[in-house]
Amino acid sequence: MPSKLPHQISSFDEYREVYQKSVTDPESFWAAEADTFVWRKPWDRVLSWNFTDPEVKWFSGGQLNITENCLDRHLAERGEQTAILYEPNEPDGKVVKLTYRELHAQVCQVGNALRELGVGKGDRVCFYMPMVPELAVSVLACARIGAIHSVVFAGFSAQALADRVNDADCKVIICSDHNRRGRKNIPVKEVVDEALAIGCPSVETVLVHRNTGEDISWDPSYDQWYHEAVERQDANCPAEVMDAEDVLFILYTSGSTGKPKGVVHTCGGYMLYTAYTFRNVFQYSPGDVYWCTADIGWITGHSYILYGPLLCGATTMMFEGVPTYPDAGRFWQVCEKHRVNQFYTAPTALRALMARGNEFVEGHDLSALKVIGSVGEPINEEAWEWYHEKVGKGKVPIVDTWWQTETGGIMISGLGGLSPQKATFAGYPLPGIQMALVDKNTGEELTGNPESGLLCVKYPWPGMLRTTWGDHERCQKTYFSTVPGMYFTGDGARRDENGMYRIVGRVDDVINVSGHRMGTAEVENAIDEHPLVVETAVVGYPHDIKGQGIYAYVILAPGEHDHERLREEIIETVRQEIGPIAKPDKIQFVEELPKTRSGKIMRRILRKVASGETDGLGDTSTLLNPEVVTSVTAGRL
Ligand code: WT7
Repeated sequence: MPSKLPHQISSFDEYREVYQKSVTDPESFWAAEADTFVWRKPWDRVLSWNFTDPEVKWFSGGQLNITENCLDRHLAERGEQTAILYEPNEPDGKVVKLTYRELHAQVCQVGNALRELGVGKGDRVCFYMPMVPELAVSVLACARIGAIHSVVFAGFSAQALADRVNDADCKVIICSDHNRRGRKNIPVKEVVDEALAIGCPSVETVLVHRNTGEDISWDPSYDQWYHEAVERQDANCPAEVMDAEDVLFILYTSGSTGKPKGVVHTCGGYMLYTAYTFRNVFQYSPGDVYWCTADIGWITGHSYILYGPLLCGATTMMFEGVPTYPDAGRFWQVCEKHRVNQFYTAPTALRALMARGNEFVEGHDLSALKVIGSVGEPINEEAWEWYHEKVGKGKVPIVDTWWQTETGGIMISGLGGLSPQKATFAGYPLPGIQMALVDKNTGEELTGNPESGLLCVKYPWPGMLRTTWGDHERCQKTYFSTVPGMYFTGDGARRDENGMYRIVGRVDDVINVSGHRMGTAEVENAIDEHPLVVETAVVGYPHDIKGQGIYAYVILAPGEHDHERLREEIIETVRQEIGPIAKPDKIQFVEELPKTRSGKIMRRILRKVASGETDGLGDTSTLLNPEVVTSVTAGRL
């Protein structure tokens, strides 16, 4: 087997050269990448775009099916190679290895089962499942038949699930009976039943995968067993021929206002972008074992457990468990067991493991590691150093990858082992990516170095979102109106004297809790559901393990209240409205919230109080009620 994949950069000088070419003539650059894939029909036009409406089309007229590129294309050369390596929750549980040939056959069977259920091109299928091979198989099966997948992280509540199912009018939900995560047993099907009880009129079938075999309730009018529907199917399933710009999937993510929005990705551009970034950032070589610890419920799992690796013919691991079960050595034990070559995780996991002590990592043989990666939130210096020293033994390169659900794939990152690295800096933009820093007051691009400002992108890239499901105006407003003519990321960033980027964090009302994006408005709306809550303001504050914690200021209805009990009830309300990941870490009851004369909550002050920066609150004299600052500060938790 050749040791290098097509279009794989192999030195930093080459990166500079390729980058220059990619921005001088983006269309030729991406067309050459597209040429490495199998198309049913070649494209007529590489790119047409404007960032005003916005409208972006890559490879118009081209036709393909992404699963033919993930699976069929590899059968001749690596049919017997492991495609998916599954490591279960229990260390002594059964490892599953699916070769490309087996994965292809299973995807076809599920594709046929879905077709039999009346699912066709453009129909939406929702997933609410743990990290088991059947999830990967059936997500790919959707893509096979041209159905649009919408994976909902299985930690979301019934209400959150129902909201997402209804926003996309999903026809089918695929779920499991129960799910084991660490020591927890999660009744997955029960949550789906609750969502249906809330009301999901578009759902015709719930396809239930038997995972743990425990009892579940059953309604024969819509419930069907996955194995019964799948077993009898043929292992050949002709792939639906898709236009490059047909929708591949929807993935919901939080913003600064309202309900989560469905980010839409399309077939052609997403395909080449995830493959290109995977092979370059991780410097994957044929035969390597690659492990990304994310959940497929997030974009990281879509792009870098499934599509990117499979498009490159990689062996990609899926892990059902958690980093701390049965103990804090689990990640390292798994790396040793499977001789993992590329390992990709989140800073929050590193901080949690770091806090448990070095003995858990020190005993393990991590000598197979060639590249280790970080994603999801800024990595602080201490966690970076620990990763570098304890996991990378001071010599394995770290890639700090900055990107977003909306970008489809990695945008700013080192290329494993090739690029200069600097703790807490994500590094340079990948080829084809034209970043900009913009002055937040003047809206002008800042071209010098060093500089800091709003992080934007000036030119389209194939993996970018095309719209938000059912609401194109929201896409325009959220991403293309802050800085006219550019895509605005929501992040602030700094560029050093050498042009390396450091992501400072969100500049909007989005907080990042353990690498999960949370809209403060969304959490406020959930808290407001409690009958005794009059008004709420939610902000983020620095948290040692989670990166950011959730701090809620709550005004209660008049009267005597048992604050401890109310705290518990409020937490329970949030758990039901969104899920455990959105639970406030601190709830402070206040009489009033600091407001401007126009009635807007002064979040700047609340953020400072929550972070303990009570000395530098700035000018509060313009407030409608400056006196409340004193009582809010005094009551700080
Ligand atoms: C937000 C996107 C993209 C995968 C997982 C998160 C933050 C992401 C980094 C990084 C600093 C980062 C940003 C971004 N973020 N990666 N390497 N350094 N910040 O996806 O849920 O869409 O969140 O995560 O603030 O905007 P997401």
